[in-house]
Amino acid sequence: MLDKLERLPADIILGLAAACRADPNPAKVDLSVGIYMDEQGLCPVFESVRRAQQALVGEEVTKAYMAPAGDEAFNLGMQRLVLGEGSPALLDARVGSIQTPGGCGALRIGAEIIRAAAPDARVWVSDPTWPNHFPLLSSVGLSFKTYRYYDPASHDVDFDAMVADLKGATAGDVVLLHGCCHNPCGADLALQQWAVIADMAERQGFTPFIDFAYQGLGDGLDRDAAGMRLMVARLPEVIIAASCSKNMGLYRERVGIVLFVCRDETNAQALVSQGLVAGRRIYSMPPAHGALLAGRILSNPALEASWRDELAAMCQRINGLRSGLRQRLEQESGRDFGFIEREKGMFSFLGLSVEQAQRLRREYSIYMLDSSRINVAGVNDHNLDYLATSVAAVL
Ligand code: LMR
Repeated sequence: MLDKLERLPADIILGLAAACRADPNPAKVDLSVGIYMDEQGLCPVFESVRRAQQALVGEEVTKAYMAPAGDEAFNLGMQRLVLGEGSPALLDARVGSIQTPGGCGALRIGAEIIRAAAPDARVWVSDPTWPNHFPLLSSVGLSFKTYRYYDPASHDVDFDAMVADLKGATAGDVVLLHGCCHNPCGADLALQQWAVIADMAERQGFTPFIDFAYQGLGDGLDRDAAGMRLMVARLPEVIIAASCSKNMGLYRERVGIVLFVCRDETNAQALVSQGLVAGRRIYSMPPAHGALLAGRILSNPALEASWRDELAAMCQRINGLRSGLRQRLEQESGRDFGFIEREKGMFSFLGLSVEQAQRLRREYSIYMLDSSRINVAGVNDHNLDYLATSVAAVL
């Protein structure tokens, strides 16, 4: 029976990282997976996380199962972080949440809820979007529509096209939005544009599902959340999938949360109960370690303050890398790369063809997706010149 199964190709992001690891070229540059790397090319542990971990390891008295909804300090801390201190939705108790295995787990539980509520719902995703959105959401049985989002010519959001396409989204449909730091293009909606999409959701009745994996990596924790919070303030229903992979560097610990912002408390509790049943069916209960660390940080003012400082420094460094990369690419190629500085978060498209991206991989050991999406946080002072001259050489 099992011998009928054929080998599948590697994941287009994770497979590329593996290919880079296997590349013996000492000059190789890994711009594949979205992880933050420091000047030495290492993905560091936050100092605040290290301190939380030392305390946790010293005090931990059990490895019994977590509660199905996860750690309470984590849930409360994340609700506050995502929705904002004093959020009216929180004060009205119309928010329910479940700790999930990573942001992917949050997307999956959100999708399960959507499917339970509206089996025929269509999920509108941006073109382009994170490639894993498709398998993650379609495995639940939801169908897709795409809306135009990024214009490669202007390197910006094609908002008119987005609005024109989303006019087709109706009540019972879901529109997947990237809360900030769009993956893969780095081009985000301005606040006025979020307001227009909120108007459309109000008028047309679709439900926003916001993938919020990069809070704090664009313009800071609160500014990155502004568009999402505007939706929450205006609309009766919003689903949010958030993650601590990037903003706490807890990638391998799989720390995520799904938040259901509902009409009222009764509905929020109903959705949590539905989400718990879905979680039990798939993974039973969430993992403990990472969420206990995040919960500790978010419930201890001194730890939270130092984590915020570390995150702000990381964000500032990424924005500095964006400026440096723009400058060096422009010097080497004589072309305009100003968009790299305007875009936010870890990712940007360099605007290369598939052939050019593949040539960079083959001839220069520079690993970016075929779409020319780069992880800006993989650039550093040691590889910047090599990257800029190599890109100019294939252009
Ligand atoms: C990425 O897009 O590189 C990250 O979100 C990591 C992943 O799981 O794909």
